[in-house]
Amino acid sequence: MDHKTNTTLLFSLLFFITYLITIATSKDLCNQNDKNTLLKIKKSLNNPYHLASWHPETDCCSWYCLECGDATVNHRVISLTIFAGQISGQLPPEVGDLPYLQSLMFHRITNITGQIPSTITKLKYLRSLRLSWLNLSGPVPEFLSQLMNLEYLSLSFNQLSGSIPSSLALLPKLSYVDLSRNKLTGTIPESFGSFPAELAYLILSHNQLSGSIPKSLGNLDFNRIDFSRNKFTGDASMLFGANKTTFSIDLSRNIFQFDLSRVVLHESLGVLDLNHNGITGSIPVQWTEYSLQILNVSYNRLCGPIPTGGSLQRFDSYTYFHNKCLCGAPLDSSCK
Ligand SMILES: *[C@@H]1O[C@H](CO)[C@@H](O)[C@H](O)[C@H]1NC(C)=O
Ligand SMILES: *[C@@H]1O[C@H](CO)[C@@H](O)[C@H](O)[C@H]1NC(C)=O
Ligand SMILES: *[C@@H]1O[C@H](CO)[C@@H](O)[C@H](O)[C@H]1NC(C)=O
Ligand SMILES: *[C@@H]1O[C@H](CO)[C@@H](O)[C@H](O)[C@H]1NC(C)=O
Repeated sequence: MDHKTNTTLLFSLLFFITYLITIATSKDLCNQNDKNTLLKIKKSLNNPYHLASWHPETDCCSWYCLECGDATVNHRVISLTIFAGQISGQLPPEVGDLPYLQSLMFHRITNITGQIPSTITKLKYLRSLRLSWLNLSGPVPEFLSQLMNLEYLSLSFNQLSGSIPSSLALLPKLSYVDLSRNKLTGTIPESFGSFPAELAYLILSHNQLSGSIPKSLGNLDFNRIDFSRNKFTGDASMLFGANKTTFSIDLSRNIFQFDLSRVVLHESLGVLDLNHNGITGSIPVQWTEYSLQILNVSYNRLCGPIPTGGSLQRFDSYTYFHNKCLCGAPLDSSCK
């Protein structure tokens, strides 16, 4: 052996010893209870390839689809995000045994069926719950109102049925609610007019909700409202007002019936879609002062001239067509 080979061997040996020492002294950050729970979750989901990194011999804080907190929470698992995997099964009830979870998300997994497990009420620190684009059935559970730290709730794109629990309005921090694209029936609970925090997003589109909107919703200042494609009736004018800061209001494809003539818009409104309802009256002249990005009042029972001298002629006839007797540009029918 020449000198060079000897040196290489020596360095390799040193490197190997350092490596062994590193392995022996490195301590898993992962909490053992969390690790056991995660392995149960993996098993309950039939050991999907998506969770191949969840290997019992490695530190669970290094696994994909989750996040451990810092030393202040002893590196407990604070977030679990299972997204777009080839996974079949039900939501594992064991998720309730990750007591430090702040965020729980299962999203875009076609074959997740069954109901939302009540064990999630054990998650006292949960701030964000997103169970969307799954195939969950059963109700929007009443027990969600036990999640006192919840700020964000999305259960959209499932097969959930039954009515919306009024107790959701008990949640002191809830500001985002998306229950769209389910099979929900019944009305919007009266209690929704009195959320303790500012309810900024209320997205209920593509359900079979009915009845009139509680008057009390007029007390709220939303960022975005989407009630489209339901069976809501009656008045929705309380959602508007000079003092609001709502950016987007979509009430399209319902059976709303109110007089548009006295509906006052506000500066920050960017999107207003009222198509396919039974809305009467005329378009207020005041509306010329606002610079909406999207406007659709088609398929209603509006009458009278489309006010000129502002921004309302920027839209094409598809914004206004199929009304009772709207007239003037951009429609072809001129006003007599
Ligand atoms: C979903 O389940 C069905 C029937 O159990 C199966 O045929 C299909 O491959 C599954 N799809 C996915 C994406 O796992
Ligand atoms: C729910 O399952 C059906 C088939 O049973 C499938 O066609 C549909 O895409 C699934 N929904 C979602 C949101 O993945
Ligand atoms: C709008 O706010 C002003 C002052 O904040 C108040 O005086 C007025 O009554 C409010 N108008 C409406 C319609 O609520
Ligand atoms: C308004 O809604 C109607 C009905 O859905 C649609 O046909 C039309 O294209 C929409 N108008 C615009 C400007 O998008």
